[in-house]
Amino acid sequence: MSCIKKLETNSSKLEFLHRGKVRDSLQVDENTRLIVVTDRISAFNKKIKTPIPNKGAVLNGIANFWFEQSKHIIPNHVIEMIDPNLMLVKEAEPIRVEMVVRGYLTGSIWRGYEAGEREFSGALILEGMSKNQKFPTPIITPTTKDEDDSPITPEEIVKTGLVSAEIWEQMQAKTLEIFNFGSEYLAEKGIILVDTKYEFGLLDGQLILIDEMHTPDSSRFWRKSDYEKNPTTAEQIDKEFVRQWMLANKIDGEVPLILAPEVIEETTNRYEEIYEMVTGSKLDVPVADLGERIRQNLKKSGLLAENDSLELA
Ligand SMILES: Nc1ncnc2c1ncn2[C@@H]1O[C@H](COP(=O)(O)OP(=O)(O)OP(=O)(O)O)[C@@H](O)[C@H]1O
Ligand SMILES: [Mg+2]
Repeated sequence: MSCIKKLETNSSKLEFLHRGKVRDSLQVDENTRLIVVTDRISAFNKKIKTPIPNKGAVLNGIANFWFEQSKHIIPNHVIEMIDPNLMLVKEAEPIRVEMVVRGYLTGSIWRGYEAGEREFSGALILEGMSKNQKFPTPIITPTTKDEDDSPITPEEIVKTGLVSAEIWEQMQAKTLEIFNFGSEYLAEKGIILVDTKYEFGLLDGQLILIDEMHTPDSSRFWRKSDYEKNPTTAEQIDKEFVRQWMLANKIDGEVPLILAPEVIEETTNRYEEIYEMVTGSKLDVPVADLGERIRQNLKKSGLLAENDSLELA
């Protein structure tokens, strides 16, 4: 087996909690959760059926890298990466807000801007800007964390009691601090951190960073060289390639949910390239014995017993 598509087990130490588009979450105990970063990929908000070898290891490795690099700015949920695809984290009381922060006018905000909107989640955008233009300073456009992630203003966040004014102030300040930190760091590696999303939680009353951090799934990355050549055509390094292929290969007007082998291979290459650009080291994760490796690492951490079942495909 060379991919992990899910993690299912009858281990008494691992209770299923949640399945997202890409990650599975399991409860270890009331203070601890296991995040399984699978090789699943989604595009156009659809689940693609073919997994991407090493995507999970890339995402988990990048998140771990950033949590480590930024812990002097804000503490985070990481306890330990027990396997390239598995992260053990502290269970926090999640704050039901997605802290979206943007350095450039692109994506959904650009579409709204083109249609005449100038205010996004309470943030005002200048007149006369063009597609993919850099903002004078990054803006925060929070959304709720529910089915449709709708925009919400800071005022509403506090008024509806999602968090106190004091915690909101901290979230805002930390968001800008880590976004600037990440942007500067990546600029030196030739990558533009276009926008990203953070999630925060409370642990013993203290604000911490949870979920994932500066991964390709939670962020938009452009190659600086692409942007400098032509700002309006800069594309996301990881997924734009998959999206274009899907659009060019529609079946009966629908995008295909099974990727061709060469598309899978190229996508793996792109994720591994991002990993190397971000962390400065090559991703050294052999995929051949992935199932056995995960089994051994779960056992080593005391989360799986000899006779427990483990299903990854
Ligand atoms: N340390 C933590 N403590 C508590 N909750 C956490 C922690 N880390 C992450 N979470 C929560 O776990 C959930 C992870 O879900 P996940 O991102 O896998 O799927 P999703 O958000 O439901 O959907 P999508 O796949 O579209 O992101 C999120 O709701 C996140 O807030
Ligand atoms: Mg999520």
